[in-house]
This record gives sequence, C-alpha cells and structure tokens, in this order.
Amino acid sequence: MKVLVVGNGAREHALCWKLRQSPLLTELYCAPGNPGIAAVADRVPIAAEEVARLADFATEMRIDLTVIGPELPLTLGLADELAGRGLPVFGPTQRAAEIEGSKVFSKLFMDRHHIPTAPFAVVHDAAAARAEAKRFGLPVVLKADGLAAGKGVLIATDEDELGEAVRTLFEERRFGASGDRVVVEAFLPGDEVSFMALCDGERVLPLATARDYKRIGDGDTGPNTGGMGAHSPSGGLSAETAAEVVETVMRPAVAGLAAEGRPFVGVLYAGLMLTPEGPRVLEFNARFGDPEAQVLLLRLEDDLLPLLAAGAAGHFDARRLSFRREAAACVVLASPGYPGRPITGEPIRGLDRAAAVEGVEIFHAGTAMEGEELVSAGGRVLSVCALASDLRGALERAYAAVGAVDWPGKVYRHDIGRRLLDPGWEGVTGA
Ligand code: AMP
Ligand code: GLY
Repeated sequence: MKVLVVGNGAREHALCWKLRQSPLLTELYCAPGNPGIAAVADRVPIAAEEVARLADFATEMRIDLTVIGPELPLTLGLADELAGRGLPVFGPTQRAAEIEGSKVFSKLFMDRHHIPTAPFAVVHDAAAARAEAKRFGLPVVLKADGLAAGKGVLIATDEDELGEAVRTLFEERRFGASGDRVVVEAFLPGDEVSFMALCDGERVLPLATARDYKRIGDGDTGPNTGGMGAHSPSGGLSAETAAEVVETVMRPAVAGLAAEGRPFVGVLYAGLMLTPEGPRVLEFNARFGDPEAQVLLLRLEDDLLPLLAAGAAGHFDARRLSFRREAAACVVLASPGYPGRPITGEPIRGLDRAAAVEGVEIFHAGTAMEGEELVSAGGRVLSVCALASDLRGALERAYAAVGAVDWPGKVYRHDIGRRLLDPGWEGVTGA
C-alpha cells in the first residue's frame, strides 16, 4: 500500500516509524515531514494546510491511504477533499472535527448525548460572562470557541483574574472571531488523563491509557504548552474506570456524531478530569495527542496500517488492540523561549549516542538541516522516548538519552512521571 502521512511533528514521525514496520507498506510519503521523518519516509514539500495541493498529490500518486496528523488540515476539510476524490482517508471530516474545532459545539453535543462534562453556559458578551462566572463561583474556566493553538482556555482563580480573562476575550479580542462565543464552565479539580480510541464511524477501538504534561515547568508550573512529556500507562486510571470511559464517553460520542450525520473516522481523543464523582470530559480532540501518540505507538503491538485502512473503509475487523506490557515514556526537548517565541537555529549533536540507549526512540518535531548540520527550528524540537519493563525503567532510559543529546539550549521537564513513582504507583493498573 502507498501511504501519505500529513504533518511535520514528532507525532507524525512516530506514525511514520510505526507504519514503516508494516509488511503491507510499499511506499510511504510524509507532507511536509522533517529531517527525522526523512529516515523512514519520502518527504513531500507541501504544507499540512495546503488542502488542494495535498489532494492533488494523493490523486496523482494514487495513494491508498492518507493519515492526517494535526487538527488544522482536519478543520480545513482535507478529509472531505480526499473523500470527494474517492481516496481513502483516516481522519475526520470537517463536520466531525468540529468536536475539536468548536468548544461550543462540543459542549452542546455532550449535553445532547449525556456525556459527563463540567456544567457550562455559552455567552456572547462580557456582562453575561461575568454573570455566569458568578453563578458557577471561583475558580472558573473561560474558553474561546474556536481553535486557539491551546491558548484559548483561561482559568480564573480570583476576581482580578476573572476581570482580566473577560477583558482578554471580549475587549482585546485576543482570539479574534474565535472569541465571539465563549464557554464559561465550572472548574473541576482532579487528576487529568488522556483517553483515545481509533474510530471507523461506528465502532471504537480504545488505545491504552496515557498522560501528558502540559505546563512548561517542573511541578506543573508556568504556561500551558502543546505537551512537554507523556507516558503510557497513565497511572491513576484503573482498568474499570477506563472501561467506564469507553461506555459513557467514547461510544456515546461516536454514536452521537453518527446520529447527527457527522460520522467520525479517525482518532477521538478525550481529555478527562478524574473527579471524585467520576471521569468528566474537559475537551475532545479529533486526532492523536502529541506527545501521547509517541508513547502509545511505541507500545502498540498490532500492525497499524491494516487498522487505519479498515477504519478509513468504515469497518474495523479487529475487536481490540494489543499493547505491550512494557511502559513507555517521553520527554520533550524544547527551544529556549517556548511556549513564547522560541530561539532557533542552534546545532543539535549526539543524537546517535542518545538513540543507542537501550529501548530509546527519538522522534523529531522542530528540526531542520543547515548543510550537514541538524539544528533546532521550532518550539518543541525532539521527543525522546523509551520503552522498558516498567515506568521507572522507561523514564530512566528516556532521561539517560536526554542527557546524551548535545544541545546546550535544550529546555525540558525533569519531573515527567515522578509523582507516580512514589511507592504504590506500580500497583496502578493502566489499561
Ligand atoms: P482544554 O483545551 O479544554 O482541554 O483546556 C486546556 C486545559 O485547561 C486542560 O488540559 C485542563 O488542564 C484545563 N481545564 C480545562 N477545563 C477545565 C475545567 N473545567 N476544570 C479544570 N481545568 C480545566
Ligand atoms: N497533548 C495534548 C494534545 O495533543 O492536544
């Protein structure tokens, strides 16, 4: 099979790495890819947002399956464009991807289908936002409706922060039209985990549990990022609760989207808060998480290609997925300045030595070649990942490899998984 992967992050590198292992694969392309991806796929110089050009390429090359990584091409309708040309695609249509692209749609959808989530209201102006915030009490969460690169969620813990959040959304209009409609919702305290499933429009194949670390700083401090590390299993989510999430969140969401004429083919991602009252959905995404994909794909035993091809055809044959018993961990190396404006162009050396640490795989994100030299070229730059018999071992291997990466500017968290390594974490059975 000829496969095209769309995207250029470490998630897409992990997808290409995994697809490359399939005996069914004949040709693998990645648009636009990155220097790490170039080792396992042929790069195509078309950006992930260039919907028409990507569809032209897939048509000309008679691509048998296109796998879309990031949210932007999904919300721009790349899956629709490919399907319209009769080309198989694993990734939701524009209408199905609205579950990620619009917070208002997503919350109203959860309400219609009785999917557990935080109590909320949809508001259109500052006065209504203040009134609803008062009703819910502090802390309170305000979310701009549209995609805002993960920055459209504002948590206010006191009156000053609430005033500032309301000003940011309605006066400064920092998120532009994305902020015309705002979700105000109750703050849910608890432990946060990621739960994903492959979907074929009707059926769901749950992935193993995973957890990502969103804040830039150790101890969950500083601003939110795209994700600074991950591990699988997640810890904190028992097999029973995972089964409950499949029944109360994943299946109703996929059935609800199908019933509303938006069948969902692709990876459905639920960001969950584990509250004392049970799991609650904070958000849905319409794609693999990054860096969660990196650790999940390291643990996945099945051949990914026939699974995604069956999903694209609308009918999974498999009943369930198989994951290695080993744990996987990922530490993200970012550029100085991230998540603000990153300082780039710094040489990165020692990757061969780092990758030689047992169990380690390194996936590239923001890297580029300058002549013969690999340099940093974005915010998140490398995902340093490892498998081992348990989470402690996986983290030790990942951090040993991080130490071997010769890049003085590298910024990373030193505490990925640490909280779970307290005595007793091994008793946590991740699904
Ligand atoms: P979202 O993009 O909706 O997942 O929000 C980004 C982050 O904000 C989440 O990963 C949570 O850490 C936090 N968050 C969102 N909604 C809530 C909520 N209702 N209660 C507590 N934290 C939240
Ligand atoms: N790691 C969270 C996300 O991909 O949205």
